[in-house]
Amino acid sequence: MRILGIETSCDETGVAVYDSTQGLMAESLHSQVALHAAYGGVVPELASRDHIRYLVPLIEQTLVQAHTTLSQLDAIAYTAGPGLAGALLVGASVATALATAENIPAFPVHHLEGHLLSPLLGDDPPDYPFVALLVSGGHSQFMAIDSLGHYRLLGESVDDAAGEAFDKTAQLLGLPYPGGPALAQLAEQGRPERFKLPRPLLHSGDLQLSFSGLKTAVAQLVRAQQVEDYADIAASFEQAVVQVLVHKAQRALEHTGYSQLVVAGGVGANRTLRRTLAHTLSPLGFRVSFPPSALCTDNGAMIAYAGWCHLQSPEFLSRLKASPTPGFTIHPRWDLAEYCQSLRL
Ligand code: KG4
Ligand code: ZN
Repeated sequence: MRILGIETSCDETGVAVYDSTQGLMAESLHSQVALHAAYGGVVPELASRDHIRYLVPLIEQTLVQAHTTLSQLDAIAYTAGPGLAGALLVGASVATALATAENIPAFPVHHLEGHLLSPLLGDDPPDYPFVALLVSGGHSQFMAIDSLGHYRLLGESVDDAAGEAFDKTAQLLGLPYPGGPALAQLAEQGRPERFKLPRPLLHSGDLQLSFSGLKTAVAQLVRAQQVEDYADIAASFEQAVVQVLVHKAQRALEHTGYSQLVVAGGVGANRTLRRTLAHTLSPLGFRVSFPPSALCTDNGAMIAYAGWCHLQSPEFLSRLKASPTPGFTIHPRWDLAEYCQSLRL
């Protein structure tokens, strides 16, 4: 079984081909970072237009790389949400049009499910069940991943997502968009013990997270310090976020009784987070797996793979084949639990 995956939920156009016997055959990514940089953030209308421009050429390129043709595909999976409405429409409509022309099914995948399953594409894949720490630009969540389509929210951020906190703090430090990687790079030259920043909800006893107070503390610090101190501020901020995430990750493992943790989402590419998780949790007997950094941020491979996983279920496949009219619905806001339920209808 061979499947094409399409990701266009935000500012990356991602395409990949995943095959039952050959695994990931090819993937391509077009990042819009340069396009949005001048505005300091993603401009939705520009994002949609750029997806329109790049998606079809990227599909052609990916098929060539995979030495495959449209007629050799068995299905097309596309991100249907959550994300920017206009951007999602591009992926959904192209996927549906191609699938209709080839007389194969096209079906929606939840963007966060893509992230949650992406560690299974790595060299050291976890086995179900496991705990996932999902830290992206829009989400910071601990999830219990019991099996495919069975995900339980254990705790999440009550305000800013971890990536959002990185991005906003980077902006305070005058760093270019996207802030996360730039801040992480600056932090490498700084002393994390220099400034004592708050560790919000560290000892709250649950798995909730909060990052907006930390950002406010950094804002005050920036006003009081000089540019020479910015690397130390970046390192101190990064350490505060990492310490909270690692402490709560340990709690999440203890709470579920699961022995494996996976990290997913853009902030999962952060080297200090990876190092600290491994150093803290491995000696305690927990297994920690990280997807390759390129799979942490948005990509088409995670959507192709999640789609392929669902197609392994005969019930899913027969339901898909039984739905006769081609069409699609996008979900700019999409509850993951609702999506999981829809998989079983
Ligand atoms: O998962 P993702 O690509 O997009 C969303 O679905 O949100 O995550 C993007 C987020 C951004 O906030 C970006 O600044 C952050 O991940 N990020 C990082 C790093 N690389 C990306 N944050 C900290 N350290 C990094 N190395
Ligand atoms: Zn994402």
